[in-house]
Amino acid sequence: MMRARHSVRDYTGIPLTERQKDALRAAIAAAKSPFGGTVDIHIVTAGDAGTFSPTTYGMIRGARDFMLLGIGPDRNSLLSAGYIAERAVLEATAMGLGTCWMSGTFSKAEFSKAADFTAGAPLTVVIAMGVPAARKSFVARAAGFLAGSDGRKPYGDLFHNTDGTPYVDDGSPVAEALEMMRLAPSGVNSQPWRAIVTGDSTVRFFAKAKKPTAFIDMGIGLSHFMLAAGARGLDGTLAAEKPQPAAPAPDLEYIVTFSPA
Ligand SMILES: Cc1cc2nc3c(=O)[nH]c(=O)nc-3n(C[C@H](O)[C@H](O)[C@H](O)COP(=O)(O)O)c2cc1C
Repeated sequence: MMRARHSVRDYTGIPLTERQKDALRAAIAAAKSPFGGTVDIHIVTAGDAGTFSPTTYGMIRGARDFMLLGIGPDRNSLLSAGYIAERAVLEATAMGLGTCWMSGTFSKAEFSKAADFTAGAPLTVVIAMGVPAARKSFVARAAGFLAGSDGRKPYGDLFHNTDGTPYVDDGSPVAEALEMMRLAPSGVNSQPWRAIVTGDSTVRFFAKAKKPTAFIDMGIGLSHFMLAAGARGLDGTLAAEKPQPAAPAPDLEYIVTFSPA
């Protein structure tokens, strides 16, 4: 599902079924973020009596269903939002649905009318979901191009050994889990995920965080990492080390460490 997922900006207009929405809610409920914080997720359908008219500035066409994310302003809430909601995105992908995370190209005022958000966790991100239209519209192709969707940074630019040399994808469980992180979605395809791998599969994660949404991207990438590691039998936990490990570059911020069980 992580390999199959890509951002879809063109939909057929067919709304999700109740069963599909229940499956998404179950994925959200099952996702246990290690970061805590405040995340308030609503699944809403446009066009139902008394609901809202989604405004995405023409970026998304034909979507009827949206996941709305109310997120606390702190780093842990942003990390958790990415970590939890991406599980629903992958569940949607498994059901053959398209998705597109959006932190910029939607009207907050309009979408905020669609649900009651927990105090202190205002609407920050929406995720469009639905049956993908067969052909990509010009707008969708241009949006994908502008967002750099087709480009991913090379593996060795993101992940390193403790001596600073590029970590090589040797097909091991930790290497595959990092590859799944590399394929995650991120705002304007900024790919803020960085990691240093030690010999025993301990992985220290850092973010190149130019904007707060980079922490959402980090949560998404860590969600991929943990799912992929678990699927390959590499169990372990994510926790912050104290004292905090030094960042390998001044523009990187330490996030968390994966310790194998
Ligand atoms: C937190 C976040 C915010 C995003 N915001 C937008 C957005 O406002 N508008 C948009 O068209 N795409 C948005 N995207 C989608 C990214 O552009 C896309 O994930 C990235 O270019 C990689 O392409 P892919 O998802 O097809 O792999 C966002 C993605 C994330 C994770």
